Amino acid sequence: MEVIIRTDAGSGCMLAAKMISRLVRTKPGCVLGLATGNTPRPMYQELVRMHKEEGLDFSRVSTFNLDEYVSLPPGHPQSYHHFMDINFFNHVNVPRAKIHIPNGMAADIPAHCQEYENQIRSAGGIDLQVLGIGLDGHIGFNEPSSALSSRTRIKTLTPKTVEENARHFKDAAQVPRHVITMGVGTIQDARQCLVLAFGERKSGVVAKMVEGPVTAMIPASALQLHRSAIAIIDEEAARQLTMIDYYRWVYANKPEWQKCE
Ligand code: PGA
Repeated sequence: MEVIIRTDAGSGCMLAAKMISRLVRTKPGCVLGLATGNTPRPMYQELVRMHKEEGLDFSRVSTFNLDEYVSLPPGHPQSYHHFMDINFFNHVNVPRAKIHIPNGMAADIPAHCQEYENQIRSAGGIDLQVLGIGLDGHIGFNEPSSALSSRTRIKTLTPKTVEENARHFKDAAQVPRHVITMGVGTIQDARQCLVLAFGERKSGVVAKMVEGPVTAMIPASALQLHRSAIAIIDEEAARQLTMIDYYRWVYANKPEWQKCE
């Protein structure tokens, strides 16, 4: 996995936005895999700025979000549909018909999950998947012990994740226990994965993702098997990496053509 260490979350998100904008400019009909959470918010802000000020055009882009809470309607303030609307889709020109987010209200969840997989395939597969990482090592909502070959399906959140996400709800009792999430295998099929992790509290899990053994107990560690996974992290999240000097060295010596500055 390539590790890019930036001074802070802001500059990490700027770099992520640059990578996405480069893809959108070179492949206007690209398929983006998108993530919610606090981590990528500034990245979306920068993409919105690029759309408004630099004419970054999303009119041919398709998007697939990683996950959604079961039982929350799209208009619910804590739904990931709502998050995506207020942070991104309401401000750019991705056509509504090209936006895909799992439907937490689906009557037949297994059929809906299969359909989601089919839609990703019909769109040509995901070119670039943006990911955050949970404190327990989840990507999407693939909690520890998730099959590393899993596909889009219903998952039960761990009590820890329920507690962690309670800050977005009135209290933990309001947090749905179930979610629909792309599987680890679905994520692995993306042509490129971009994981963002910032802050000291993520440093332990970042070290496990990058340098620990590949294990279902840290689903993000499966990205070590991905042929093109990049982790953009800040100094604080990098603290527990043993190969930190090498990652800096690699980046400092990157050939010009590989850079995205
Ligand atoms: P966060 O969530 O970006 O809000 O830290 C990450 C995740 O749980 O995937």
